[in-house]
Amino acid sequence: MSQQEQWKSKIGFILATAGSAIGLGAIWKFPYVAGTGGGGAFFFLFLAFTLILGMPLLLGEFIIGRKGQSNPINTYSKLASNPKWSIIGKIGVFTSFILLSFYSVVGGWIILYIVQIVAGGLNGLDEGRYMQLFEEIISNPFATLIAQFVFILISILVVSKGIQKGIELASKIMMPALLILFIGLVIRSLSLDGAMEGVKFLLVPDFTKLTSESILFALGQSFFTLSLGVSVMVTYASYLPRTQNLPQSAISIIILNTIIALLAGLAIFPGVFSFDLEPNAGPVLIFAVLPAVFNQMPFGMFFFLAFLILFLFAALTSAFSMIEIIVASVTKNNPKKRKKSTWIIGILIFIVGIPSCLSYGMLADVQLFNRTFFDLMDFAVSNILMPLGALLIAIFVSQKVSKDVLFTELKSGSNIGRGFFSIWYILLKYVTPIAIIIVFLDVLGLFNWIIDVFK
Ligand code: PHE
Repeated sequence: MSQQEQWKSKIGFILATAGSAIGLGAIWKFPYVAGTGGGGAFFFLFLAFTLILGMPLLLGEFIIGRKGQSNPINTYSKLASNPKWSIIGKIGVFTSFILLSFYSVVGGWIILYIVQIVAGGLNGLDEGRYMQLFEEIISNPFATLIAQFVFILISILVVSKGIQKGIELASKIMMPALLILFIGLVIRSLSLDGAMEGVKFLLVPDFTKLTSESILFALGQSFFTLSLGVSVMVTYASYLPRTQNLPQSAISIIILNTIIALLAGLAIFPGVFSFDLEPNAGPVLIFAVLPAVFNQMPFGMFFFLAFLILFLFAALTSAFSMIEIIVASVTKNNPKKRKKSTWIIGILIFIVGIPSCLSYGMLADVQLFNRTFFDLMDFAVSNILMPLGALLIAIFVSQKVSKDVLFTELKSGSNIGRGFFSIWYILLKYVTPIAIIIVFLDVLGLFNWIIDVFK
C-alpha cells in the first residue's frame, strides 16, 4: 500500500475544502440562478436546502472519507465490504470530469477579462456596452479555447505538486484575500443610487415566484456550491488525521460559502437595478454588471483586476478538487503516478470541453434537448448527477455503515453528544433522500400527472 498524503494543518484543510466549495457556484452562478429563479424566495430556499440537506451530507462525506482513508472508489467498497458500492465513487469521478470540462470554459472567460483589463479595453465604457463586450469576448472561438486551456493548465501544474505544497498552500493565501476584497466591493455597490431595490430583490422573498424548476435549481445549487454528491469532500477528508473536528469544519465551510454567495448577490443586484439591467440576464450577469460598478469608483479598473484575479483563484481552487478526485482514483493514491496522470486527465478534460466552449460561438445554434451543449452539460451535472450522487451517498452512509462506527468517527476530534448525532442521522437517513426524491419526481411532472389522474 502506498502512503496516503495528509494535510499539514487544520486550517489548511478548512481553507482547501472551503476553496473547493467557493468558486463559480457562489460567485457567478448563484446570483444568476437567483435572478432567474425568483430572487429572495430562491435565496431562502437555497439557505434551507443548505442547512437541512447540505450540512448533513457534507458531514456524511467527511465521516466516510476520514474513516476510509483512501480514494473514493476504494472507500465505498472498503466500508461496505462489497465492491458494488464503488459505483458511488465512479459516478463522482465521471461527474467531476464532465463538470470540469465546462467549468473551465467559464474559468477561461475570467482569464480573458483579465487580459482585457490589462490591455485597457474595459475602461470607461457605458453600462450597456459591457453586455455587448461580454458577448463579443465569449463568442471568439480561438481566444476562448486558449483561455480554457490555460485554466486547465494552471490546475494541472498545482495538482501535480500534491496536497500540501500545491492545493493547501494556494488556498491559504487566496481565500482570505477574496473575502476582504468582496467586502470592499459590497460597500461600494450598496452606496449606488437605487441600491436598495437590489437588496430587496435578493432578500425579500416572494414565494409565488417559485416554480418546480426553480426549486430543482435551488437544490442543485446548494449541492453544487458545497461540492456535494461527487465525493470530492470524501477525498479531501481522506487526507485528514483523526484529530480534526469534523462538525466544526463542516459548519465553518458552510458559513464561509454562504457569506460569499450572499456577498456576491449584494455586490451584483444593487448594480443591476441601479443601471437598469435585467436580473434574469443569465450567465452574463457578473461579467456585465461588475465592470460597470467598478467603473464608477476611483481606481475602479485596478480593483476590478484584483477582484478578477481572486475570482480566478476561487474558480481554480474548485477546479483543483475536481482533478484531485480523479487523480486519487486513477493513481490509487500512489504519489509516483501523480504527475503523469494529472497531465493526461487534464488534457482529456480539455478535449471533452471543446464543444461546451464553442457553445457560445460557433455551436450556439446546435441544440440538444432544447439546450446548447454547455447548458446540457451543466444541467446534467448540477441538476441530475450531483443530486443523484448525493442521494446515493445519503443512503450509503445511513444504511451501509453501522451507527456505532459513524458515532465514533464523528466524535473523534470533537466533543459532540448523542443528541447532535441523532439529529444528523435522522436528517441524513430520512429527510435528505426523501427531499431529493420529491424534487426529482416533481420535475418529471409526476405530481401533475397524479393530480390529473385524480381529477
Ligand atoms: N463548489 C464548486 C463551486 O461552487 C463546484 C464544485 C462542484 C467543485 C463539485 C467540486 C465538486 O464552484
